[in-house]
Formats: sequence, C-alpha cells, structure tokens
Amino acid sequence: MNSERPMLPMAGITHANRSAVTCHLRCGDACSQTIPNTSDNETFASIATAALSRRSVLGAAGALALAFGATTAGADDAAALDAQRGDGKGSGKKRPGRVSGLDFMGIAPVAATVDRLTVPGGFEYHPIIRWGDPILKGAPVFDPEHQTPAAQAMQFGYNNDYTDIIVTDKKGTQALLVCNHEYTNENIMFPPTMDKAEAIKVAWAAHGLSIVELTRPRAGERWSYRRAGRLNRRITLDTPFVVDGPAAGSTLLCTKEDPTGRLVRGTMNNCSGGTTPWGTVVSGEENFNQYFKAEGTSKEEKRYGLAPTQDTRGWAEVDPRWDARTAEFKNEPNRFGWIVEVDPMDPRSTPVKHTAMGRFKHEGANIVIADDGHAVAYMGDDEKFDYVYKFVSKRRYDSRPGEAARKRNLHLLSEGDLYVAQFTGDGLEDGVSDGSGEWIPLTKDGRSMVKGFTLEQVLVYTRLAADAAVGSNGKGPTKMDRPEDVQPNTITGRIYVVCTNNSDRGKEGKAGPDEANPRALNKDGHVVEITEVGGHHTGTKFSWNLVLVCGDPKTAGTYFGGYQGPVAPISCPDNVAFDSRGDMWLATDGMPSSLKYDDGLFHVELSGPDRGRVTQFLAVPTEAETCGPVVHDRDGSVFVAVQHPGEDGTWADQHSHFPDYVKQSMGGRFAGPRPTIVQVRRIG
Ligand code: FEO
Ligand code: CA
Ligand code: CA
Repeated sequence: MNSERPMLPMAGITHANRSAVTCHLRCGDACSQTIPNTSDNETFASIATAALSRRSVLGAAGALALAFGATTAGADDAAALDAQRGDGKGSGKKRPGRVSGLDFMGIAPVAATVDRLTVPGGFEYHPIIRWGDPILKGAPVFDPEHQTPAAQAMQFGYNNDYTDIIVTDKKGTQALLVCNHEYTNENIMFPPTMDKAEAIKVAWAAHGLSIVELTRPRAGERWSYRRAGRLNRRITLDTPFVVDGPAAGSTLLCTKEDPTGRLVRGTMNNCSGGTTPWGTVVSGEENFNQYFKAEGTSKEEKRYGLAPTQDTRGWAEVDPRWDARTAEFKNEPNRFGWIVEVDPMDPRSTPVKHTAMGRFKHEGANIVIADDGHAVAYMGDDEKFDYVYKFVSKRRYDSRPGEAARKRNLHLLSEGDLYVAQFTGDGLEDGVSDGSGEWIPLTKDGRSMVKGFTLEQVLVYTRLAADAAVGSNGKGPTKMDRPEDVQPNTITGRIYVVCTNNSDRGKEGKAGPDEANPRALNKDGHVVEITEVGGHHTGTKFSWNLVLVCGDPKTAGTYFGGYQGPVAPISCPDNVAFDSRGDMWLATDGMPSSLKYDDGLFHVELSGPDRGRVTQFLAVPTEAETCGPVVHDRDGSVFVAVQHPGEDGTWADQHSHFPDYVKQSMGGRFAGPRPTIVQVRRIG
C-alpha cells in the first residue's frame, strides 16, 4: 500500500463531553452508536430524582456559589480562588493539620484554550518521558518526519494513560515507570505524505505498554528515565501474549493464525490499570471493537459494539486479522477485551490475558488482598449503561518473601469467581443517594452461574451473561453511567466507582435515573462509594452512597459529600488515586466541553468535617486529558500522564506544543504535542 495517507475520517458527531477526534479515535464514537446494552435490567427509573439538587439532597444549607472566571488565576479570580483553596472559610490558608507533603493552595480553573500545565504555588513540574523518546538499546532519536515501525517499537509509545511509578529501592532513588499507551492520532503524529501502511504499522508499535527504569540522585528530587535500562521494555501489538484461565483454548478464541486459542499477538486500547500486591501490573483492553471490520449482525457482535461503521483506521487493509467478516478471523475480536498482566521485573516474561476475569470494555482493574487472603479485583465496563464487576481469586495470596511466593502469586488471577454489581436505592426520603448492593455471581467454583451460558460463554461474552444474571431479589445488575476506575482505597477499604458521564441517561427509550445514577442527561459524572459488608472484600453484600455528583457547584444537582463550603468545579472524573491519608485524587476527562476548562487533577477529602471538599491541584494543557495519576505525597510528588494534548489539530495546524513548545517542525524538531509523563514536585 503506497497511497498517501488520508486524514482519518471523523464521524462529524461529538457528544457533549468530548472532542470529535477523541470520540472517534479512542472510543469509536461509542456515544453516537447504538447503546449496546439493550437488556431490560430494571433501574428504578423515575424515582424522584428530578428533585435532586445539592440543597435538596443534602437537606441542609445549599452550596456557596463560586464565580470562577474562565482564565487562569488572576486578579479577577482572587477572591474565589482564596475561598476554594483555603480552609473552607475563604482564608486562603493551607489545609490545617496536614502531615502530607502535598499541602497546597488550590489553583483556579484554567480556560480550555490555555496550552500549558498549571501547578500550585510552591510546586514545579518537569517531563520525565515523552512519546517517541528512545528507551531500548539502539533506539533512534525521535524523528516524526521519518518515523518507522522499528523505531517506534523501541521508543515510548503514544497517548500515555494508566501510569505507575514503582519505587524499587529503600533510598527512593530507583524506580520503574509502567505505562499504558491507549491509542494513536495519526492526524497530528505524522505528515500527511507518510505512506498509509507504514503509518498503520507505526501505530501498532505505538500502542501497548512501556516499562522504563527511572533514577534520581536522592529522594525528593526529580526523576529521569534511564535510556536502555536493563528492565526497559516495549509491549506492542506484535508482542506475544499467552491466554490463561478457563476460556484458554476455547474454540471461541481460535483463528487461522492461532488455531490453539492460547496465543494472542499483542494488546491494544490499554486504558487504566493497577499494580498488584505481588508487583505485577494489570491493564484493561478497552475499546477494542473500533479496530475491526465486522458485519455487526450477531447479538454477540452488537453487544460489544462491533459494527460495519468501525475500523475507519483501515487496519484490515494491512493485516487480515482485523477483518472479522472472514471465517479465518471471525474470532479475532474475542481475543481482545481482557485484563492483561505484565511482570515489569522480568523483561523476558510473556504477558498474560486472564479469561477468568471476563471480557468487556475493561477500563482497568485494581486489586486488594481480602482478610481471608484471596485477591479481589474491582473492574468497570466503560460504556453507557454498562456494569461494575469484581473477581475473587480461587487461591490465596502468598505473603512470604522470596521468589517462590512471588511466582505462585503470578497465577492468582488465573482462576476465580466473577461477579456483577446490583445497586439498590433506599429512596430519597432520607435526603441522600444511598442503599444496599449485591454482587451477583456469573461464575462460581469453575462453573457458570448463568442459565443458558457455558463457563467459556460467560467469560468470552461476559456482557451478555451479565444481562441474563439475576440477583436474590429477582432483578439484574445495574446499568451505570460509564464506570471507569473502580478502585479500593487502601487506607479505608472502601471502593470508589468513578462514573464519568452518560448523556443518554433518561432519553426516550433509555434507562432513566436511579438512585445510584441520579441525573438524567448526566454530562458531569459522579462517584459512588462502596462499603463491603463487614469489610469483607470476598462477600456478596455491600452498602453504597454517592460521595460526589460532579459539575459546576453553582448548578442544581451537584453534591459534594455533604461539604457546605466552597469547592472547585469538577466534571467527568475518570482515573483515581489515593494518598497515604486515604484522601482521593481525581483526574478528569471532558471538562473542556462540559465546563469550558482544561482538564485537571483534584484533591477530594473523604473523611472528617471537610468530607467532599474538592480542591484543584493542576490543570493540563489544551485538549488534553489527565491520566495516571500517581500520588507520592510523602515524597512531595504527583505524577500525571498528559494524554492527547492538542488532539483536534492537524500536522499543519497543531493546537498544542506541549511539552517542548517548539513552534515549527524542522530538522528533527517537532512542533506538535507529545503525550508526556510529568512529575509535579514540591519545591517550596
Ligand atoms: Fe479509556 Fe474509559 O477511558
Ligand atoms: Ca437514600
Ligand atoms: Ca479512562
């Protein structure tokens, strides 16, 4: 294929919260496609949620309205900024009584057109590693005008998403950076004259994960990456993965290329993830459907969004495995949509796809060890009206030191029970959105728990199995507003379900509001707090409440955990982290559209009288999303993955120049944006 590369076609449709480019490239325009979940699972529609407002839900004094300006902090915003960032009384003081190394004065919201990374006073930021930086031995210097698949496979990938910084020595001077590369945007990555097939192959190499050694002279200082470090690794769409768990070897996973159903080439659309207690990293394969040509006629294809309108990237023209219309590769889509596990300590290890954890549009997985020793993974299926899941390992975690125990733990995710969540509200008469919940089993002790589904059908077509599952009250699982990160707070044991938004909630023919998803046309998202009964992560009953209903605090329907003082505007929460005090840090994805501000990272108090107070820590450059995040508060550092800066630009009209701010491409210098991992560090 020697044709000149055309611009990727855009659907020309964008929903309320995203740019058309991001909708198209990352999610395959999921919001403008048919909603895949057409099951009739009940959702308690038309509970008196129309009455929800910050004032009415709280049953107490309403919010203090803030009047943030649409620019960065300046004289006009000073009063409002003082009010937000201070102690809740408008004093502008740092939060009192903190031991965290991250005591900070909140920033004001930043206008969506601002192309810079804004951090609080007393902090600096610096890029650790950018798309295209060479990481493997022999990797060439980044040259986007002459990029090749071989070069990209040795360089840091595109659109960094989930990130962790795993410190590996006691002095705090050595670490491993592990990062997902979710998707590519060839419109701004390469000149339009680049050969189309070559650009596609570069894209394959820019997907996947990177593992990179970091070093610094002493704790508290800047991290920098080690080029050609011994543990450095790229995982791409050509890296072999072994399939394990009950569906390994299933005919549903066999293709012409792999008649065993046990060996998959590559991983893609890796979104969020987590570091396991045994030191590996799990990563979610999310919007895999958009890469395939498919008929889209079977119920299985429809439920996973496989459709003729997908595959605008043209990958099937370069490799037939992306053409699911053929008998040879009709099962290729079934080989994506899994949780994958990578051992960053062993660059020669073969990464694994875990079928026991089910197949859907996995945002990520976050794992805790339950009090009885089982590993429990919490997971979200990021689609409008889809579900929250958890997995409980069959075997127990081996906490003994040493390599033998570590090797045993590498198989913890291979066998276990899979559940889907049902949230039941107790009514709004008590003034809050809360209630009880049940984990409905889909698999148990190696058997299917869903009538009409074999075990491997439950695992390969998990969405359909969940649709058919029935809880003890005779009802099915709860359709959520795009559950992204579902993450346990390691300090309190509570689990936080981050629902980013759902602009279709309550539309004609769609599920209406319920107590756990309380707003129609939910453009700003919310966060559900789950408490497992007795604190037992392996149990099947929980209680829940809403801790945040996001948005501009001036607007009705927002809720900030009961906190009555000033809070920062926040919308479209996506990724979450917790600090050593158990406070929550929320990264957003969609504020430019919903509130006309750059996306950001926000601190949220979860305990004490200030529970629900939201303070903005940073803002990312224009058209970027905040990913990661990683919070090392005792070290005075926060790390974010700046994803898709300047996503709406073109090669000739770049919208962002972050992080290097070069204004013209020439001689290997690149004027466009480079997705980047950033360390924000206390200096004052
Ligand atoms: Fe890739 Fe659900 O965000
Ligand atoms: Ca209630
Ligand atoms: Ca995400």
